[in-house]
Amino acid sequence: MNTNDIREYFLSHSPRVDPSQTVDTVKAGDPTRPVSSVAVGWFASLDDIKAAVGLGCDLFITHEPTFWDHAPAESRWRSVEPAITKQKLLDDSGIVVLRCHDCWDNWPGIGIRDSWAAWLGLGDPIAESEDKWHATYAIEPAPLREFAADVAARIEPLGEDSVSVMGDPNRVVSRPAVGVGCGGPDKDMIDEGADVLIVCYDGAGYWSARERLFELGAAVITVEHGTSEMPGLMNLANHLSETFPELTVHYLDKHPRPWTVRPKAG
Ligand SMILES: [Fe+2]
Ligand SMILES: [Fe+2]
Repeated sequence: MNTNDIREYFLSHSPRVDPSQTVDTVKAGDPTRPVSSVAVGWFASLDDIKAAVGLGCDLFITHEPTFWDHAPAESRWRSVEPAITKQKLLDDSGIVVLRCHDCWDNWPGIGIRDSWAAWLGLGDPIAESEDKWHATYAIEPAPLREFAADVAARIEPLGEDSVSVMGDPNRVVSRPAVGVGCGGPDKDMIDEGADVLIVCYDGAGYWSARERLFELGAAVITVEHGTSEMPGLMNLANHLSETFPELTVHYLDKHPRPWTVRPKAG
């Protein structure tokens, strides 16, 4: 088994992904080299790659880019630091990097959206967009402040220490909506009855999205991009080891997490 075989497995099970257009390509290393040990992580950070090399992995599967550029060649920042250091680590170790983004975003049941909703305990969708990027759920009615605190408690194990919220804290909500990473829920889910949208900073800018969604009448809870996608990557690691029992699979999450500060009381 090699990286090309694993990439072919993802693409052949992803009817919505066009193999000629996808960003799910090999970013570094020789994809014909035999693979027996794989690391899976949300972002191919320097610390993640170092950890994968330390574990003896032949392949790192990342959901997001390695060189900070969504286009498949990832060329924009590639000729300057810190890409030079990262490339040297990749070259010296020979580890292969494969991106699994488009295929995993919509993978049914255990892909990015469904894993995120399950992590938040939202159950089955009551509505979803045609492209299946966005979905709305029914929960027991709760004041926004309480629901947001529950979301914050659920993401704490992922390494995020808070959420930010727009909307009246006492407003009762019962129809949360989530999306696929930075492709978060929008007006489409408000039209389906959603009253609180869970979005991420990368995908939902203040005036382009969050303020507009607020004016449409929704409350908005915002988390980091990685937080919303890490449950999906854990499921990807599990899926790989179940599908290919001959592989040793490690889940890694060493990308940096922002932490928040409040002014000291008094
Ligand atoms: Fe993403
Ligand atoms: Fe994604």
